[in-house]
Order: sequence, then structure tokens, then C-alpha cells
Amino acid sequence: MAAPHADDAPAPAGRMITLTCDRPAAGGTFVARHEGRVVFVRGSAPAETVIARLVEDPQEAAKARFWRAEAVEVLEPSTDRVPTVWPEAGTDGVGGADWAHIALPAQRRIATEVLQELLSRAKVTTFPPEDAQVEPAPGDRDGLGWRTRVRYAVDAAGRVGMRGWRSHDVRPVGSDPLAVRAISELDLPSWTPPRGTEALDVIAPSDGPVAVVIIGRDLDPAALELPARLDGVDVSVQNSSGLHPVRGDGTVREKVGERSFVVAQTGFWQSHRLAAELLAEVVAADLGVREGDTVWDLYGGVGLFAAGAARAAGAAGSVVSVEGGTRATALATRNLGDLPGARAENGDCTQWVKRAITSGARPNRVVLDPPRAGAGAELMRLLCEAVGERIVYVSCEPSTLARDLAAAEAAGWRVADLRAVDLFPHTHHIESIAVLERTA
Ligand SMILES: C[S@@+](CC[C@H](N)C(=O)[O-])C[C@H]1O[C@@H](n2cnc3c(N)ncnc32)[C@H](O)[C@@H]1O
Repeated sequence: MAAPHADDAPAPAGRMITLTCDRPAAGGTFVARHEGRVVFVRGSAPAETVIARLVEDPQEAAKARFWRAEAVEVLEPSTDRVPTVWPEAGTDGVGGADWAHIALPAQRRIATEVLQELLSRAKVTTFPPEDAQVEPAPGDRDGLGWRTRVRYAVDAAGRVGMRGWRSHDVRPVGSDPLAVRAISELDLPSWTPPRGTEALDVIAPSDGPVAVVIIGRDLDPAALELPARLDGVDVSVQNSSGLHPVRGDGTVREKVGERSFVVAQTGFWQSHRLAAELLAEVVAADLGVREGDTVWDLYGGVGLFAAGAARAAGAAGSVVSVEGGTRATALATRNLGDLPGARAENGDCTQWVKRAITSGARPNRVVLDPPRAGAGAELMRLLCEAVGERIVYVSCEPSTLARDLAAAEAAGWRVADLRAVDLFPHTHHIESIAVLERTA
């Protein structure tokens, strides 16, 4: 790991320096050195020389052991650099596509390097880091047109754009090439939404109409006049008192195989159009649920993985989806309603597991899909004690996954398999699925 600079003066924000970037670092940046100090550079690529603008790290405002910078001009391009797929994104543009200027196969090679480095650094020993490879989602050819959920920001003048990179400014945007066609076709950036609108969420589900949520603290849903461009679109208003469906019921429908899931318009669902189906298949195969098994689906959302487990466990089994959001839990109860032996419970996963274990519960198999912060030491310890056979860990943040896998190894488990899939093309994010088994 790069050593901190002896002098921890904060970055002189705004100053331009010339940097040659070397290896990738977690978070989508590339490592360069300036007068012995490590600088993490955004918007660059491996083995590339750039003029970069120093930025202040808000988390280290008073002192900075490392500096941060963003590339503003390329002097000697990386062989991985290509014309960006989204010219409006990147330094001085909008966020959400930080690797749009890197060739797609190179993005996956770089993400693989980062993943392997994180596993090595966390001292994961039971799975060879070199076997961890980031693969494309099957059927994804160009990494475009995948995002089914997009948030637009609206400025004080009513212009629809997107937030800038590392900034709250609203930048104009024409279209989002990463969004699915149903979202692009609505062309919301050319709309002037009602006065007081602060943001627009647009959701293109796999089943049923597109939904638009018009967000603004003081918006009055009763006063909303819907423009022709929103004909056929479900519309809700989210103001300071909550979500108010104007057309539709505030939910969308997502089809996975033959099954339909009801999801709140503002609730979590996997963003890539291929993700839910792919992850549901991989998790079902990795969990290997047998009839009569007891299974927990932790951080279960609206019951995506619990549904597959419940089908395999049958009426003799017991499957519980545990979810922190009350609305998502209610929808999981609805989505799992026809599956005997399946139910959804609301609560913090760590607290719920602690209580379940205290009352004697011992699941055979557990799937967990936490947010970026990961499961953490306490939940991993509890699961490693209580789970009989297998834990499948779905993760959108490889650094916390690596940390939690190392904790499981220390508790006597081994990483039997690890797959990483590029479910966020043209960004540095990846999705991983790890299988943990008891060593004895
Ligand atoms: C990455 S999503 C996964 C959802 C689901 N597995 C899916 O694929 O649709 C994480 C979920 O965990 C929930 N969550 C976050 N923190 C939680 C906590 N401490 N306890 C329980 N649920 C939590 C979120 O509300 C969200 O639904």
C-alpha cells in the first residue's frame, strides 16, 4: 500500500499539476505520485500522463495524507483510453460514468486488478485471488442501455440535468447512453417540470409502464397538470409528507422468469436490466436449497432471492426474508404470499439474527446482499456460528466483501467460489457473489 506523505498539508485545491498515473485504486481512481506524495486521480487511465486539478477531500479537509485530483487534459494517453461513450460525463461533466473513456474490456481488466488486490490485502487465503475475474453480464455487448433507474436533478430555473462529478451543481445533459431506451425516449432533460421540482426519478421496469416520481418538498400533487409526454407513464409526487401516486399505485412490476415482483417506485431493485434475473439464477444455484431446508435471505428487499429459495425448500421448508425497510418488507410479504413456508420480517439484520439465534434458530443456508457498508464483523461472526452449511454473499462493494470474507475465514469457513460480474458498465462498480462453506 502507498505510504502517506510525511507532510500532511491539504491539497491546494484548484492547482494544476502534471501526473503520470500508474495502477488502479479502489473507488475508480488511478495512483500517481507528486513530489513523493500519493495522488488519487479520477478521470484518468493506467499508464497515462495528464494535467490534473487538485481537489480537496471533504473527509480530510484539515489535513491530507494523500491528495486527490481530477484529470482535465490528457498529455500522453493510455492505450486503454477510447473516445468516451458519454461526452457529457466525467471531469467538469456529470457523474455516474467515471470509466466511460476506458475501453470496455480494459474496464473489466482494471476492475479485476482492483478486486484481486482487495482480496490479497484483506488476506483472503482460501480462494486464489487470481481466480477472481470480472466477467460481462451474459448478453451485454457494449455496456450501453442497461440502467433501469435514473435520477435527474432540477436546478432553481427548472432545468433538468444531472449532478456534476463530486458536486451538487446541476449540469445540463442531453441523454444518458447508459439508460434503457424507455428512459431515453421520455427525453426528460427537454421538459420543464412543475415549479418547485428538485429531482425526477424515472424507473423503467421489466413489466408494465415506466414510472416518473416528481420530487420537491413543497409540491402539491392535486395541482399537478400532466404533460402529454407522460401519457402512458405512471406518475407520483414525492413531497415532504411522502409519496403521492397521481397515476398508478406508486409501485412498479419486475418480472424475473415467470414470477412478477411488486417494487415501490422509490424502493430498491437491481439497476441493470439483466441483473435481477442473473443474480437470482446464480444465487439459486450457489445456495443449492433442498426440500425442507431452513433459509434466511438477509437484506432481502422485496423477496427476490427468498422466492427462489422458497420454491426449492417447498412447503416443508422455512424461508425468511429480512429487510430493514417497512415498505419493502410489506411488498416482500405480498410477493412471497403464494409460497408456502416463506415469510418476510422487518428489522435490522444483525439484531434480527442475534434474536433468532438466541431463540434457537439454526438455518442450513443463508444469502445476504448488504448495501456498500457490507455485513460487518458482528453479523459475520453470528452467521459463521449459526449457519449449518452454506452462506452466499452478494456484494456491490468489493472492499467490504473482502473484509467480511476474511472474517469468515478466521471463523473457520472457506471461500468455495467467487464470481464478479460487470453489472455497472462504464463505472468502476462491480457486483460479486461469493460462496462460503464450513471447513469442518
Ligand atoms: C443491495 S439491496 C438488496 C435487496 C435484494 N436482495 C434485491 O436484490 O433486490 C440491500 C437491501 O438491504 C436493506 N437494508 C439496508 N441496511 C439494512 C439493515 N441494517 N438491516 C436490514 N436491511 C437493510 C435495504 O433497504 C435494501 O433493500
